[in-house]
Amino acid sequence: MIKYLGSKRRLIPVLTELFEGSGATTALDLFTGTTRVAQAFKATGAHVTALDTARYSEVFARTWIAHDADAVDRVTLQAAVDDLNRLRGEPGYVTETFCRRSRFFQPFNGERIDAIRDAITRDHAGSALEPILLTSLLLAADKVDSTAGVQMAYIKQWAPRSYKPLVLEAPELLAGAGRAVRGDATVLAGTLGSFDLAYLDPPYNQHRYFTNYHVWETIVAWDQPEHYGIACKRLDARDDETKSVFNRKREMPQALADTIASVDAEVVIVSYNDESWVNLDDLRDMCAVHGDVGVLAFDSKRYIGAQIGIHDPQGNKVGTVSHTRNLEYVVIAGPRPRIDAMTTGLLAARVT
Ligand SMILES: C[S@@+](CC[C@H](N)C(=O)[O-])C[C@H]1O[C@@H](n2cnc3c(N)ncnc32)[C@H](O)[C@@H]1O
Repeated sequence: MIKYLGSKRRLIPVLTELFEGSGATTALDLFTGTTRVAQAFKATGAHVTALDTARYSEVFARTWIAHDADAVDRVTLQAAVDDLNRLRGEPGYVTETFCRRSRFFQPFNGERIDAIRDAITRDHAGSALEPILLTSLLLAADKVDSTAGVQMAYIKQWAPRSYKPLVLEAPELLAGAGRAVRGDATVLAGTLGSFDLAYLDPPYNQHRYFTNYHVWETIVAWDQPEHYGIACKRLDARDDETKSVFNRKREMPQALADTIASVDAEVVIVSYNDESWVNLDDLRDMCAVHGDVGVLAFDSKRYIGAQIGIHDPQGNKVGTVSHTRNLEYVVIAGPRPRIDAMTTGLLAARVT
């Protein structure tokens, strides 16, 4: 999976246990990013809807969530990947913009990204394989990039991994149906239907995903945009349509409250960390529209979970916080018996 700010990789075992404990068979992952949480839910057999504003997230969601592995012919997929891997490099937009004007990839890899991306459009546009091959290209490009994990800047000296040749692999797909949606959660949250469980992992501060992952946006859009600055960011990064309300300090709390309230789900789980503009008590209040509220806290240094209390809709608290620094929170709202069933056994949860 790609390097991604705020990725919930280490929380997957906990979120999976919560999901299984809830008995849910339908789920919504409203800020899906890499889709790794949506994938974990889908792997339990659930029908998952994954939504994000990012173009690359939609590609990931079409690959891992909407596609049914049983409906994809592995031989055809592998043959398409092999064909792309055999292509010779051809300098184009990526080579010029992201290898010469900036230094996100070494030119020999940039030329191959250009050739492969052109071939995906030429040979697979509109086909079921298109998102899978794009996912394969993004994963391969991420393995040979020269960044510290975000694309606002590149490393001055080439990163050691950037010397490796770009190699596409066929992504492992998951069996079952699902849905990929690209759009704004604040607009769409209430329109997506009814779910057993909804998971929300919004941005909580000023760091914009559109600019932090502009190279992935451009490789997916393949629109050769005008760019600016040392990192060659897309010119439309300056447009309001590419900005998220979750990156605006004053507007974000109300937007989050409205989005949580408009989700139609029996159980709502919200991820939260202590670098956020919203405080935990306010978030707990926002979640109380869905019933009782439970909070799990994870010390990100020690990766030991601790259940710190069940709260009724009025915010009456049971339990105490055992660690107060470097905490990641998982806030759970819904009927009290359901929360109890989900959290039993998580007192000693380990996040690795
Ligand atoms: C913290 S990340 C989610 C990480 C994800 N849970 C994972 O493990 O990969 C937040 C996501 O919210 C998306 N986002 C930002 N504003 C949004 C909005 N208004 N509607 C939907 N998604 C949005 C970003 O593109 C980003 O992928």
